[in-house]
Amino acid sequence: MTASMALAATDMVIFGGMGDLSLRKIMPALYYRFQEKQWNSDGRIFLLGRTGMDEDSFKKHLLEHGKNHIKEGDFDENVWNEFTAGVHYVLVNSEKSSSFDELKKIIDNNPRPVRVFYLATPASIFGKICHQLKSHELITPETRVVIEKPLGSNLESFKSINNSILECFQESQVYRIDHYLGKETVQNLMVLRFANNIFERLWNSDTVDHVQITVAESIGVGTRGGYYDESGALRDMVQNHLLQLLCLVAMEAPSHITPDFVRDEKLKVLNSLRPISENECQQMTVRGQYRSGSVNGEKVNGYTEDLGKTNSKTETYVALKAYVDNWRWSGVPFYLRTGKRMEQRYSEIVIQFRPVPLNIFPGLPSAPETNKLIIRLQPDESVKLQMTTKVPGPGGYRLQPVYLNLSFAETFDHRLPEAYERLLMDIVRGNPTLFMRSDEVQAAWKWSENILEAWKDTNQTIQSYAAGSAGPADAAVLLARDGAKWHEEF
Ligand code: BG6
Repeated sequence: MTASMALAATDMVIFGGMGDLSLRKIMPALYYRFQEKQWNSDGRIFLLGRTGMDEDSFKKHLLEHGKNHIKEGDFDENVWNEFTAGVHYVLVNSEKSSSFDELKKIIDNNPRPVRVFYLATPASIFGKICHQLKSHELITPETRVVIEKPLGSNLESFKSINNSILECFQESQVYRIDHYLGKETVQNLMVLRFANNIFERLWNSDTVDHVQITVAESIGVGTRGGYYDESGALRDMVQNHLLQLLCLVAMEAPSHITPDFVRDEKLKVLNSLRPISENECQQMTVRGQYRSGSVNGEKVNGYTEDLGKTNSKTETYVALKAYVDNWRWSGVPFYLRTGKRMEQRYSEIVIQFRPVPLNIFPGLPSAPETNKLIIRLQPDESVKLQMTTKVPGPGGYRLQPVYLNLSFAETFDHRLPEAYERLLMDIVRGNPTLFMRSDEVQAAWKWSENILEAWKDTNQTIQSYAAGSAGPADAAVLLARDGAKWHEEF
């Protein structure tokens, strides 16, 4: 295990502390950091909730969730007990000023130098909470506020949520989480590009034919139907996670790996995305919704049955073609796709290089395959480079594509940490590099909103696809029109 950077003692205050995000993601991540001796017992964690709860039932509840959400081999009840000795339940009703008086008393009793307010609540109350924190003088210079999507449902609603937060906090104190940026392999994308000299010369329209970004999920909407039906795949996945991945692939090298240098470069990419007009939308985007089918041998319901609503027009799948209009990427399509209830859960980026200019091995059953760089983000994290080689033996040149394969599991003897572990520690350390700045979110909304509006105005149809399939037929057509096809290899 490598040594982790020490942290300043911190008060971590989680609004919505007894909710799903807190118990399923934040608490397990803090436990891992405690187990690895980074989050130490000087830190205090306050889980805020709206219902009265005695200490005993609180600790029991925590334990149950800890056991459920931490991998069996990693969960140690003694360590958990030590960790949760520093976790406290606080009854807070965000509507009531008196609740914040109480909270202030508790925090001000031996306050820690760093203070984090994590708003694991609906965005509709972010503003109210921030104003209460401000009027109760709970915001110190070393205070950060953490928020997470959905950050609005369009540009306007994002701006209104954002403004209400910025009335109380400085931009530098606001940490907008996109958990994809906390994934090890996503961070590795920057290292792959900017710590290896061999790719840079190839990383442009001279050599790259196109880029594919796939985030496929085998799960359906589960119990999140209420939220999801208002959102759909474009808002839920493309506007944030997929566009962030696109930025990391397309951005120029920042001169330093400092927060604003990195985010300035990402912003330039978002601002260079060619808007998809109403006329092109039908050709450049595909919307799909899953019907019943079978995933990994198990029969599953369709989306509308999952939802209990027969007439939903919400997309659970999107495929689209985007262009980054700058010198580096001029004319290179970026194909993005994401969907629920796909045959496999996997996220992957494929850089498809152009073919050799002339095939000097004629008379073969097939021309040399083009090179591809395949960056597998999850699961089975790896980087593979497809090369064409000669099959050994006599009989002339027989060519075959093979992989140079860097598998993370085989190369490193490390547990790959969960995204939230890295993100939470960066928040405490005050490093916002992996968080979205306000102008990035705005630019991402501006581009996505165009598509949402074009879909609405043209009433673009939703194609049905069977659960457990590779998605709607038109997603294949989207690439076939350009003589390309999706990389499908699990
Ligand atoms: C979330 C979306 O942001 O990301 C979910 O709201 C989606 O709908 C999830 O399932 C996917 O994240 P991961 O880390 O499992 O790929």
